[in-house]
Amino acid sequence: MAIYALSMAKKGGRYPDNRTALLWTLGCAILSFVGAGFLGFAHTLPQVNMYTHGTLVTAMHGHMAFWGAYACLVLAIVTYALPNLTGRKLQDTGMNSFAFWTSNIGMVAMTLAFAIAGIAQVYMERRLGMDFLAVQKEIEVHFLGLILAATLFTVGIIAFIWNFIRFGLPVGEVRR
Ligand code: HEM
Ligand code: HEM
Repeated sequence: MAIYALSMAKKGGRYPDNRTALLWTLGCAILSFVGAGFLGFAHTLPQVNMYTHGTLVTAMHGHMAFWGAYACLVLAIVTYALPNLTGRKLQDTGMNSFAFWTSNIGMVAMTLAFAIAGIAQVYMERRLGMDFLAVQKEIEVHFLGLILAATLFTVGIIAFIWNFIRFGLPVGEVRR
C-alpha cells in the first residue's frame, strides 16, 4: 500500500495545487508502514516477543506507528482541508514543509534512539539477567540522544502550530 501510494502520487499526471498536503499524506503512508507494519511485525512473533515484551523496543514501535498512522494523517487532513474551508491557499507554505521535514526527521531519530536503547536493554536485562534499574543506568546515554531528537521533533510541531495560527485566524477580513 505504501508503494502504491508513492507510485500513484508519481503517476498522478499533474501537480496537485497543495503539495504540502501531499507531502504529509505520503509521509503517513511510509511511516505507518515502517512504524506499524514493519516494526510492529518485527516483535510480534512469540520467539522475539518473549524477549522484547514491555521494553523500549515496544516504545520504538509505538512512537513511529502512532505518529505515522494517526498524527501524520490528521496533519495531512488539516493541511488539505483548511485552504478549502477558508478559501485561502495559505497552508501550502515553506513553513509547513519545514514542519514536515523537521518533525519527521526528529521522529525517525527518536525511533532509532529507542531502538538502540531497547536492543541494549533486552540484551542486558533478558539475556545477561541484569537488574532493571542497573540496566536503565547503563542505557542512560541513549536518552540524551532521544532528547536531542525529540527537540528537533518539537521544533517541527511548533512550526506547524505557528503556521496554523498565523494563517488560521481570519485577520482583517469581513465574515458573513
Ligand atoms: C496504527 C497501527 C498501530 C499502532 C498505533 C500501534 C501502537 C502500539 C503501541 C502504543 C503499543 C504499546 C502498548 C503498550 O504500551 O502496552 C503497541 C504494542 C504492540 N504492537 Fe502495535 N501498533 C500498531 C500496529 C501494529 C501492528 C500492525 C503490529 C504487528 C504486525 C503490532 C504489534 C505490536 C505488538 C506485538 C505489541 C506488544 C509489544 C510488547 O509485547 O511489549 N502493532 N503498539
Ligand atoms: C517530544 C517527543 C516525545 C518524547 C521525548 C517521548 C518520550 C517517551 C518516553 C520516554 C516514553 C516511555 C517509554 C518507556 O519507558 O517504555 C513514551 C511513551 C509513549 N509515548 Fe512518547 N514521546 C514523545 C512523543 C510522542 C508522540 C508524538 C506520540 C504519539 C504520536 C507518543 C506516544 C507514546 C506512547 C503511546 C507511549 C506509551 C508506549 C509504550 O508504552 O511503549 N509519544 N514516550
